[in-house]
Amino acid sequence: MRIILLGAPGAGKGTIAKMLTDYDGSVQISTGDILRGAVKGATELGEKARGYMERGELVPDSLIMEIMESRLQEPDCRKGFILDGFPRTIPQADALKNLLQKLHLKLDRVINLDVPRDVILDRLTTRRTCSNPNCQEIYNVKSKPPTPDGKCKKCGSPVIQRADETEEAITKRLETYNEKTAPLIQYYRKEGSLKNISSTSSDEIFNNIKATLKAG
Ligand code: AP5
Repeated sequence: MRIILLGAPGAGKGTIAKMLTDYDGSVQISTGDILRGAVKGATELGEKARGYMERGELVPDSLIMEIMESRLQEPDCRKGFILDGFPRTIPQADALKNLLQKLHLKLDRVINLDVPRDVILDRLTTRRTCSNPNCQEIYNVKSKPPTPDGKCKKCGSPVIQRADETEEAITKRLETYNEKTAPLIQYYRKEGSLKNISSTSSDEIFNNIKATLKAG
């Protein structure tokens, strides 16, 4: 499958993307994970991105498109890809359209995860993430806890809270989402490729996406 997952911070994009990759072998491409890896590795990209991310602002479109232009041409993308957290602005969506045309690739669907704001706020303050960059399993102290001593159940590494999970950064991320990313819902609706899913159940969302893709 080749899909875009849209949704506010904490809507569950990463959680659903992992379920979908387990299902059909498509790769999850999370610009957030790529950027966090770069920050951790103190690369040039990481140094440029760090401040924006910690403040809950978007990283400039030019940096993101540089990453995506090369990532989408890597061999593992031939199995299909799930774009998690990209595109996030209208210029990124326009640039993606051109890039896909250049690569002769067609998207199957754009899925919007529509989750109430109070649920999102609760999820973001209770999320934990595996600190191993090759694992990055997502946990939640309420709905999907790690081991009692705070370790990842898959790889045993410590689970951590992200640097952008302060109250101030969460508020800013939600504001940025409303201003810059929410307009993409209308953008893809106009194109006829949008499927809106209003649910807080990951299983229900997963089954709905599978049914949508089967229906064509
Ligand atoms: P990014 O990493 O993309 O963060 P985000 O969009 O804010 O999304 P999150 O990862 O916070 O949430 P999610 O929707 O994946 O939810 P999750 O599955 O974890 O981006 C971070 C930063 O990088 C940005 O702020 C920006 O600075 C930069 N950036 C990234 N991409 C960019 C781009 N394209 N352009 C510019 N800048 C960019 O779930 C959340 C929690 O809820 C977890 O604890 C999970 O266990 C729990 N949960 C999920 N589903 C359920 C459920 N059904 N029931 C109960 N709990 C659930």
